Amino acid sequence: MNRRDTLATLSRGAALLAWGSLFGAVQRPARATSALPRGEYPFTLGVASGMTRPDSVVLWTRLAPRPHAPLGGLPDAPIDLRWQLASDEAFSRGVRSGTFTARPEHGHSVHVQVSGLASASAWFYRFMVGDAVSAVGRTRTAPAADAAVARLRIALASCQHYEQGAFAAHRDIAEHDLDVVLFVGDYIYESSNPRYRLRPHEGPPPQTLAAYRARHATYKLDADLQAAHAAHPWLLTWDDHEVENDYANDQSPSGMRSDEFLARRAAAYKAYFEHMPVAPSMAPHGAAMRIHDQFTWGRLAELWTLDSRQYRSVQACGEPGRGGGRVVSGCDDLGFESRSLFGAEQEQWLARGLAGSERRWKLLGQGSQICPGGIDSPLGRRIYSDGWDGYPRARERFLDAIAKARNGNVVCLSGDVHRHLAAQLRSHGNQRESPIVAAEFVCSSLTSRGVSEAVMALMRASNPDIVHGRSDERGYALIDVTPDATSCEFRATPFPAKPQAKLSPQASFVVEAGRPGVATA
Ligand SMILES: [Fe+2]
Repeated sequence: MNRRDTLATLSRGAALLAWGSLFGAVQRPARATSALPRGEYPFTLGVASGMTRPDSVVLWTRLAPRPHAPLGGLPDAPIDLRWQLASDEAFSRGVRSGTFTARPEHGHSVHVQVSGLASASAWFYRFMVGDAVSAVGRTRTAPAADAAVARLRIALASCQHYEQGAFAAHRDIAEHDLDVVLFVGDYIYESSNPRYRLRPHEGPPPQTLAAYRARHATYKLDADLQAAHAAHPWLLTWDDHEVENDYANDQSPSGMRSDEFLARRAAAYKAYFEHMPVAPSMAPHGAAMRIHDQFTWGRLAELWTLDSRQYRSVQACGEPGRGGGRVVSGCDDLGFESRSLFGAEQEQWLARGLAGSERRWKLLGQGSQICPGGIDSPLGRRIYSDGWDGYPRARERFLDAIAKARNGNVVCLSGDVHRHLAAQLRSHGNQRESPIVAAEFVCSSLTSRGVSEAVMALMRASNPDIVHGRSDERGYALIDVTPDATSCEFRATPFPAKPQAKLSPQASFVVEAGRPGVATA
């Protein structure tokens, strides 16, 4: 039985198993402060891990026997559970265990940060409450900060509209031997498009905490997504659909008042926190939640997860009464110096980090395509105002910080635009005399529809910096980092209508250490 089969078997079979008869060493869970409803299985949403550091990792689950019921079908009272972490899958070599009180005010979510672990090691973990035992998850700690490391394997993924396809890519991710999954946004979609609906969301677009919890539960109930979480630790940032399409800071494209929208954003961020394997310290304060962060993989790589939604300036060239992104030819405010995608504080934090990092590779995970994607037309160049094209001065500052990265070797890992894309990042985009400062790999969506191939062909023709761009297939990117090179294999399937859809390589690219940009033979 391979690892995935084992995880799946445990996930299904462990529901109300008398676990102690199989593993005599397992202690009974601590007595719950409030009894779980009898006979109900609380681990329906699976398990996950993340925030992998040299000596710690975060373990996640959420107790929800009936995930679409208020409070997941649980009473409005705290519930104690037990967690275990071991170095073997049979839990015969237990390393750590403890109790955690899942509180109703956090939707009975569980975020356990286990510290003091050995670096560069694989671990197995599970949770127990009453007689119920969760699926077993596998995770790993990062190598020590000063360790020489031969390899880092990442699955880069984004944009998983539940209604628009099966999560076949997550099954593929679960079956690969990886160090981490890097998810760069649109984990849930708040909105629907009836034209492309293969399986329905549980309700209308969420506005309240209860409704965002139900939306996250719909996604987390997917068996393939659960498998990808159980198989690897995840590092995450978000984009817009975790709250509302095209939102910018406190501005809703649907014209809500800013205070009303911030109340919605607070509900969305709280539900996001409750459903993700992020550190307990990241719990939001009202409508504020810091998600941008920095991770290391020995001396091989430093990885930043960046937030391009919470602090951004509103889209340029707006029409009165209509917010969000649109296709524009330009306007006065487009080039304003003060407009930012990351916000001034995050911009400066990142620039300092890039200038100071002595690690071999600098990887930047963030929500949108950085290289120019505008389309030339007889009436001039047309750009989409919600992406980096709509923030030209901020992009210049971003690329300047990248150009000043110590020892170079910057690779940007992006999402959002629903196309597999490899590109050169130049200080001045599409200008051949301008130096290439970095490579960019954008992963296609897991499921969400992309632009037509006709539009994609125009985009390729209008942007010579694009080395590869295809929007007709769904999937993710395998990123393989070694001291000599960072490679990218775009994995894809034409249309994941069924969970059994098979992914295969669409194209592969390499960035050689010391030579910025995508190598073009
Ligand atoms: Fe998306």
